[in-house]
Amino acid sequence: MTQEVAAGCSPVPPLADPAEIAFSAVNAAFGSLGRVCMALDAQFRIRYASRLLEGLVGADGLARLRGAPIEELLGPELFGPDGPLRRALMAGEKREGWRAMIPGAGDGPRLMSLSATPLQRDPLGVCDPAAVYLVVLRPDDEAANDLATSVAGSGLISRAPAMARIFRLIDTLQHSESTVLITGESGTGKEVMARVVHAHSPRRSGPFVAFNAAALPGDLLESELFGHVRGAFTGAVRDRVGRFEAATDGTLFLDEVGDVPLHLQVKLLRVLQEHTYERVGDSQQRTANARIIAATNRDLRKAVADGTFREDLYYRLRVIPMELPPLRSRREDIEPIARLLLSRVGARTGRALRLSPATVRALLSYPWPGNVRELENALEFAATITAGQTVQPEDLPREILEGAAEARPAEAAAPPAAAPGAGAAVHVLEPRPVAPLTPHAAGQDAERARIERALEAHRWSRAATAQALGLSRSTLWRRMRALGLG
Ligand SMILES: Nc1ncnc2c1ncn2[C@@H]1O[C@H](COP(=O)(O)OP(=O)(O)OP(=O)(O)O)[C@@H](O)[C@H]1O
Ligand SMILES: [Mg+2]
Repeated sequence: MTQEVAAGCSPVPPLADPAEIAFSAVNAAFGSLGRVCMALDAQFRIRYASRLLEGLVGADGLARLRGAPIEELLGPELFGPDGPLRRALMAGEKREGWRAMIPGAGDGPRLMSLSATPLQRDPLGVCDPAAVYLVVLRPDDEAANDLATSVAGSGLISRAPAMARIFRLIDTLQHSESTVLITGESGTGKEVMARVVHAHSPRRSGPFVAFNAAALPGDLLESELFGHVRGAFTGAVRDRVGRFEAATDGTLFLDEVGDVPLHLQVKLLRVLQEHTYERVGDSQQRTANARIIAATNRDLRKAVADGTFREDLYYRLRVIPMELPPLRSRREDIEPIARLLLSRVGARTGRALRLSPATVRALLSYPWPGNVRELENALEFAATITAGQTVQPEDLPREILEGAAEARPAEAAAPPAAAPGAGAAVHVLEPRPVAPLTPHAAGQDAERARIERALEAHRWSRAATAQALGLSRSTLWRRMRALGLG
C-alpha cells in the first residue's frame, strides 16, 4: 500500500499547495476503487479525509472530523491510547482487514473494513510531512447487505422475510401510540424490539421505562408499578414514584406480562381503559400518560383458557400483536446475526474476529433453543477461547458442537433457504467436511482442546478458567481428569 501512496504522490506537478494536491491524487486513486482515504498526523488526528466520507457521515460530519482524533470516527477500542491499531502504527507496522463501526448519517452505523499503515517518506518531498499515517476504509460488503435490512442504529439485524414484515410494521407504527404486545420464545429479541418500537415512535424523546413482572416478589409489584405513599406499608418510609409515572411522555415496557398476578391484572386493565390509577396507600387519582408495550414468552391465549390471565386484559394489550419467530425457524438470520454479534464482541477487545466456514456450518446446524441470546453467549465464549482471529468449531461451547452434530443428518437433507437478495446460500460456504462434529471421541478432542486453550489463556488458574467456561470448579476438575488434563 505504501508503494501505491508513493506512486500517487510522486507525479504531482509543483502547483499551489503540493501537499493538498498529493493527497488529492492518492485520494482519487483510492476513490476509484470505492475506498475512503484518510491521512493522520503524528497525534492520530485526521489531517485529510476524502470527500467520499461525506456520503457516509454527512457533510457536517466530515467538516467536524477535520482535525479531530481518529478515535472519534473509528472508536477508542482500535485507536484509543491502548488501541491495537494505534500501537501497531506507532511501532511502524501496517494492519489490514480490521473492522470498525462508523456512526453513519441517516441510515445508522455502518460496518467498515479498514487498513492502516505508516506513510513512507516520498522521495520528491511533495507529500505533507505532517501526514504520518494512512487509513483506508471500505464498506464491509459481507455486512453491508445485512445492515441495509437492519432497523437503523438499533443493533437489530435480519434477513428473514418474517422479520422484514415486522420491520415494515414498525415503520407503519411511527406515528402511532397504540399498545403493542410482543410475543416470542425467550431470547428472540423482545426487549430490543420494544426499544426499537419506542425509538421509532412519537415518544422517542421521552423515557423508555422497563418493568419486569417476573423479577419482583408479588407483594412489591403493585407499588413498583404505581408507586406508594409514605406509611402505606412497613418499610414505606417516603413517597415513591412508580414506573407508570416515571414513563410519563414515554413508553412503559411491561416485560413478562404473563407473570402479572390476577389481582394486579385488574388494576392494569383499569389504567389501560381509563388511564387512571392511585399510588398504594393513596386516594388521589392520577392520570397515566405512558404508551404501553408488553412482552411475554408465555402463550397468553392458553393462559386465558386456563383462567390465569384475564381475557379483557389480553385483548387490551394485543391491539398491535407482534410475534417474533424463534431462531430455528428463521435460519437465514443465524449467520448475519452471528457476524454482527462477533464484530461487537471483537470491537470490545479491539479484535477483528471471523467465523471459519466450518463454524458457520456448525452454527447453522444447531437448533438454538435459547435463540439469539444463546447465540450471543456462544460467540462471547468462543471469542474468549479462540487463539487467533478465526473462530473454529472447537472454540464453540460443547453443547453446541454436540447439538449441531446430532442435528446434522436431518439438516443435511434440508439446507436453510436463503432469503431473496441474501447472496450465496449459506450452505455452500463450507468447502470441507466438519471433522469434529460426529463421533463421540472427536467431541472429546474438541472439548480437550477448548479446555486446554482456556487454561492457557488463564495461566492454568482453575478458578479463572472455570469462570470463563461457565463451569463450577469441581466440574472443570472432573472434566480435566476425564480428558487426561488433570
Ligand atoms: N435480530 C437481532 N439482531 C441482533 N441482536 C439481537 C437480535 N435479536 C436479539 N438480539 C440480541 O439478543 C439478546 C436477547 O434479546 P432480548 O433480551 O431482547 O430477548 P428477549 O426476547 O427479551 O428474551 P427473554 O424472553 O429471555 O427476556 C440481546 O442481547 C439482543 O441484543
Ligand atoms: Mg426480555
